[in-house]
Amino acid sequence: MTTLPTTALGSAGPVVGIQGLGCMGMSEFYGPTDTAEALATLDAALELGVTLFDTADVYGSGHNEELIGPFVRANRDRVVLATKFAIERRADDPAYRGVRNDPAYIRTAVEASLRRLGVETIDVYYMHRRDPRVPLAESVGAMAELVQAGKVRHLGLSEVTGDELREAHAVHPIAALQSEWSVFSRDVEHTAVPAAAELGVAFVPYSPLGRGFLTGAFTAAEQLSEGDYRRSHPQFSGANAERNAQLVAPIQKIAAERGVSAAQVALAWVHQRAEVHGLTVVPIPGTRKRSRLAENTAAATLKLTATELVELEPVAGQVTGDRYADMTFTSAGRE
Ligand SMILES: NC(=O)c1ccc[n+]([C@@H]2O[C@H](COP(=O)([O-])OP(=O)(O)OC[C@H]3O[C@@H](n4cnc5c(N)ncnc54)[C@H](OP(=O)(O)O)[C@@H]3O)[C@@H](O)[C@H]2O)c1
Repeated sequence: MTTLPTTALGSAGPVVGIQGLGCMGMSEFYGPTDTAEALATLDAALELGVTLFDTADVYGSGHNEELIGPFVRANRDRVVLATKFAIERRADDPAYRGVRNDPAYIRTAVEASLRRLGVETIDVYYMHRRDPRVPLAESVGAMAELVQAGKVRHLGLSEVTGDELREAHAVHPIAALQSEWSVFSRDVEHTAVPAAAELGVAFVPYSPLGRGFLTGAFTAAEQLSEGDYRRSHPQFSGANAERNAQLVAPIQKIAAERGVSAAQVALAWVHQRAEVHGLTVVPIPGTRKRSRLAENTAAATLKLTATELVELEPVAGQVTGDRYADMTFTSAGRE
């Protein structure tokens, strides 16, 4: 059994396996979950050298933090725990998503996360979304106070632009920027990725498998179960899905030629694209199944050839549909 190589999560960040595990789907968004299998997946990931475990207060409205809490506590010295604040929900309106960056909210949110996780310190605390109405220095200043108070070890941001990352980093060192980056979604390469490379901030690509679409597991929203968040995703609906499903073909072709899976090609692409930009990446593919882990971790050391990379180069430019129904929810919406 091979274990993952390690890297520093940004110039001042913790050492982690070069691929992490996204835990979001264990609680919400991607259809029904077998909880026992999800919990077994956490243990199996750690055995393979995955050390960065990613959650957020918003996943399942606190459920995800409570779910992984016992695993984190049982392995506290080996797990690098990342969670996030900023997305507010309402019990009476499941579709509601508010964004809160004000210091008072941050101070309350961190206490709630620590309580649900049952730990004294969060290793990486991310601002999940940016509320441009609150000065960034105020929000990052409040996050820095959490570091000083010992509640948080390192800071991260999610879905910020290159300029926002620079501004935040000047207030307090940012260890990691977490945003969507995959063969299908490359808008972060405009400003966020170059800024992270310049500042020595690690990049944590989320949805590196295009929420499962790049693996060929589904080709249209209707194939997903009722209530699956991806049913309302613009890229997976109607004519967009039909067209985008064809764009998975080059990934599948390379996978067939190399005797690997499409998921592995998609993950290898993110690792190698980061090399081009000269920055550290730690993708966090999400899975709830032990059976996927050996496959996904092996992809971290798979090397695509120059010809294969050229074949994948035009894919993102041909994708139709936005990566969120509301693009103001992303950094691209502010660029
Ligand atoms: N910062 C943000 O705003 C943000 C947004 C979204 C996600 N995230 C984080 O990023 C993590 C990863 O993103 P994601 O879960 O959205 O998308 P993803 O990693 O691109 O894809 C996850 C999907 O792919 C499936 N999958 C995983 N490995 C597979 C394999 N080898 N073969 C076939 N299917 C496979 C999973 O199904 P199974 O579970 O059934 O294996 C799941 O449906 C999340 O868990 C979350 O922690 C952050």
